[in-house]
Amino acid sequence: MYVERLVCVNCGNEFSPDDVVYECRCGSLLDVVYDYEEIKDHLDIQKFRKTPPTVWKYADFLPAPKKVSLGEGGTPLLPCKRLGEMLSAPSLYIKNEGQNPTGSFKDRGMTVGVSKALTLGFGMVACASTGNTSASLAAYAARAGMRCFVFLPAGKVAAGKLAQALIYGAEVIPIDANFDVCLSIVREVCREAGIYLLNSVNPFRLEGQKTIAFEIFDQLGRVPDTIVVPVGNGGNIFAIWKGFMELREVGLTDEVPRMIGVQAEGANPIVRTLVAGSRELEVVERPETVATAIRIGRPVNWMKTLRAIRESGGTAISVSDDEILRAQEILARVEGIFVEPASAASLAGLKKLVFEGEVEKDETVVCIATGHGLKDPSVVTSRISLPEPVPPNMDEVFRRIRTRM
Ligand code: F0G
Repeated sequence: MYVERLVCVNCGNEFSPDDVVYECRCGSLLDVVYDYEEIKDHLDIQKFRKTPPTVWKYADFLPAPKKVSLGEGGTPLLPCKRLGEMLSAPSLYIKNEGQNPTGSFKDRGMTVGVSKALTLGFGMVACASTGNTSASLAAYAARAGMRCFVFLPAGKVAAGKLAQALIYGAEVIPIDANFDVCLSIVREVCREAGIYLLNSVNPFRLEGQKTIAFEIFDQLGRVPDTIVVPVGNGGNIFAIWKGFMELREVGLTDEVPRMIGVQAEGANPIVRTLVAGSRELEVVERPETVATAIRIGRPVNWMKTLRAIRESGGTAISVSDDEILRAQEILARVEGIFVEPASAASLAGLKKLVFEGEVEKDETVVCIATGHGLKDPSVVTSRISLPEPVPPNMDEVFRRIRTRM
């Protein structure tokens, strides 16, 4: 392990990587720092280039030894020529994170986070979640033989994600409040009850998620110009940016992409903060959107998010629920990729960015499709009605087909 220390992103205070600490005395979150010179010296570039991507291919850049895995990472980077041409962004790629073991990018973080929990000797883990984090943590906890507690906003979690948390045997605790409140509750529970917290306030979990950047670099053979990411709690956009910064740090590239965050109009605190040019977070007290995964008004990683956006020369934009649902449908119909609404926000955002002249035609753009569409089928079945049944009679069957040809 080349991990050196934890550093506060606000005041620079340092902690040991063996401390169980999620925030600095100043209240800000921590980041993991490595000995990059050591990594550089030990990196076997030939072997690195030949090995197919998975999360643990990049173990040198990770803070814990592999202890629990479900075969995460190695998701396809799909060129989307037809869709790209429709959107005037011909060099468009989708990184399909829905192909992870539990159907979202969270698995990259949980393989590392739960491995760290085992290393530290914990027997219990917990999180608050809009759905995917809980599904992923529940699976990795089951695989590791740990007890798992998940705190969910009651009635606001997509059916597939809830089913996952239940079948993996997590203790599901619905709370009559939104995600932001659930998160403050679980933070207190973990402090008091000796349970390891695996929300994105945990610096080690985000380390796993930065492998999205490593894989994109490996699969594309270079750094893309622009990355478009849906933003909820703001951990993932930071993690991906950090991954690219580390590739530069160890001399594998000189480039870092522009990071663009996309939020739903009804849950857009990061966009509001950027527009206001504010040094404090512009909280959205009652977040609301069809994209329940990113229904967050008080993103804990806001400082990290703003750093990734500002330092990479990026931006953040809002899209309406309607734009999200149309992007979800287009991606499925034109490219055969079915994503959940939050993931479609990145594509809806790209469409808007091209329209506004913010993304140019010659740019290589990667949209991160964060989670699988099957997690939230009711969003589709409530919009597209099922056709009337046809009697088992060939004349009737042909009549139906002819009207559709
Ligand atoms: N996309 C999906 C499908 C998500 O589930 C999430 C976050 C995001 C995007 C945003 O990522 O929070 O790092 O900015 N879901 C969390 C959860 C909050 O509990 O599953 P972020």
